[in-house]
Amino acid sequence: MVAKGILKELEGEVASINQALVDNLQSHVPLISEVGRHILLSGGKRIRPLLFLLSARMCGCQAPELPAFSTIFEYLHAATLLHDDVVDAADVRRGRSTANTIWGNQAVILVGDFLLSKALSLAVTTNQLRVLKVLAQTTTLMAEGEILQLLHAGNLQLTEEGYFEVTNRKTAILMSAACQIGAILGDSPPPLEEALAQFGLNLGITFQVVDDILDFTGNEQEMGKPIGNDLKEGRITLPVIHALAQAEPRDRERLVEMTRNLMPEMVPELRQLLDKYGSLDHARSQARAFTSKAQANLEAFPPAPEKEYFRAFTAELLDRTH
Ligand code: IPE
Ligand code: IPE
Ligand code: MG
Ligand code: MG
Repeated sequence: MVAKGILKELEGEVASINQALVDNLQSHVPLISEVGRHILLSGGKRIRPLLFLLSARMCGCQAPELPAFSTIFEYLHAATLLHDDVVDAADVRRGRSTANTIWGNQAVILVGDFLLSKALSLAVTTNQLRVLKVLAQTTTLMAEGEILQLLHAGNLQLTEEGYFEVTNRKTAILMSAACQIGAILGDSPPPLEEALAQFGLNLGITFQVVDDILDFTGNEQEMGKPIGNDLKEGRITLPVIHALAQAEPRDRERLVEMTRNLMPEMVPELRQLLDKYGSLDHARSQARAFTSKAQANLEAFPPAPEKEYFRAFTAELLDRTH
């Protein structure tokens, strides 16, 4: 995957993160290194470790361990992706076969657990109890998010509020923790720490809403994962919630049928219905509202190169294609 925009400008930082990831990925158990390399070295964008690194720097932390600490967030992310692909029975991620199709669900769940404990062990090396507190809370909420999403599968009564509760937990809270922990390591005063935590949260919500839009509008090759998968898996995302609420009875009935059993040949009709009710635009405007909040969270910070990266990244998120 070729980096674009702001991620391209941050190639140096990404290289330091990648080096730290490789350095840390030693295990006595060969399967762990093999599966670990597969998920960690297959072209992830490194958004979470970058958020941490830039937050820490923006808050004045220059510890040489920053790249090593940043891997905490990529390990956690990788662990959730491994588990997520088992839960979603996904075959393809980042344009490659998922680990579960190669090594099977059992091995992949266990390696996911290993990566989670690896992340927490690394967090201990920061020697800061508050870092551990934030991470402990984060991982608990993330697990709740995935479980909530499972419980909501096929739930046509799901409200926008319920959707955002899942989104907050399964995606945004980790980005929030990456930013907040950067602030903690930079010894920031509480209001700035809170501003960065909120920034990460708003950014993360935008990120997932855009991901859910791209599940209808994206390009399979660019995304590196199949399009139209969410509804097939029973995931009722923001555009569908909107369409179900707005549609006239006949269209609603058709939508309900599609949520029950979406065949590939129905996808164009689904897109038409989403367009007819402005549901993708509605989701886009929601995403835009969260980027405005994220931009506002940055205002508390004095001018800094990291602040400009954050601004640009936030703006680019709305147009991301992968
Ligand atoms: C994918 O996250 C999972 C979601 C939150 C939608 P990313 O798009 O950051 O995944 P990689 O690591 O860059 O592949
Ligand atoms: C995002 O979930 C992954 C996590 C936050 C655990 P999804 O299932 O929506 O994302 P993709 O489509 O697999 O990347
Ligand atoms: Mg998934
Ligand atoms: Mg999932």
